[in-house]
Amino acid sequence: MSKITAPKIRSMKGQRIVCVTAYDYPTALVADAAGVDVVLVGDSLGNVVLGYPNTLPVSLEEMIHHTSAAARGCENALLVADMPFGSYQASVSDAVSSAIELVKAGAEAVKLEGPYTEAIEEIVRAGIPVMGHVGMTPQSVNAFGGFRVQGRGNQADAVSAAAKAVANAGAFSMVLEMIPAVVAKRITDEVPVPTIGIGAGSDCDGEVQVLHDILGLLPGEMFKHTKRYSEGRDLMVNAVKQYADDVRNCKFPTDDNTF
Ligand code: KIV
Repeated sequence: MSKITAPKIRSMKGQRIVCVTAYDYPTALVADAAGVDVVLVGDSLGNVVLGYPNTLPVSLEEMIHHTSAAARGCENALLVADMPFGSYQASVSDAVSSAIELVKAGAEAVKLEGPYTEAIEEIVRAGIPVMGHVGMTPQSVNAFGGFRVQGRGNQADAVSAAAKAVANAGAFSMVLEMIPAVVAKRITDEVPVPTIGIGAGSDCDGEVQVLHDILGLLPGEMFKHTKRYSEGRDLMVNAVKQYADDVRNCKFPTDDNTF
């Protein structure tokens, strides 16, 4: 399989692009072995790896640390790293420097939330492909008053305008998160670059999901927009329980494990 690049993803408008998050070497190996097109080192690592309540505390240093680990496990898929909250909002120069740091850590493209069009233009000018992200952008959770579907009713035009602005600024693709399917379809028809949905229906050009959600690695309620393909947490707890039983019952290690 040949290496997937940002121009390749850009050319996949109208096809089905598969994207999943990964945050370190083993999870990137898993995603890459499954043959996904894009591995996203999402700032969702704040929630699912670091145990923060949301993505706002995630630092650029944490993103760099996880991006470099994931990059070492990602051979074929395009590796995209999220720009964390605070790394691009204050100035265009911050945005370019942060994107460069992520590329130095192994990212092949960066993703940022919202219509920061000047930042997108300048990062692209620096030779770094940018994936946009509109709709429910989790870094704006406080402004939205919670994790709420965006673009309902007369908000649809605003989400569509943001998507067009992001595409015009030079993004090679964009995530549409938690917007009504009908609005996602409209945007997908309107913008020339691929749309990658999450909670945005089935008419986008692709889908992105959080690996820990689809593998069932965490306890608790699932978002409506995800689906568990494995009870990963139960599998792991059971395996560790068996190991603990074996140790307590002197069944491990055996001669087979002994030098
Ligand atoms: O951080 C993340 O995982 C994301 C995806 C859910 C799109 O931004």
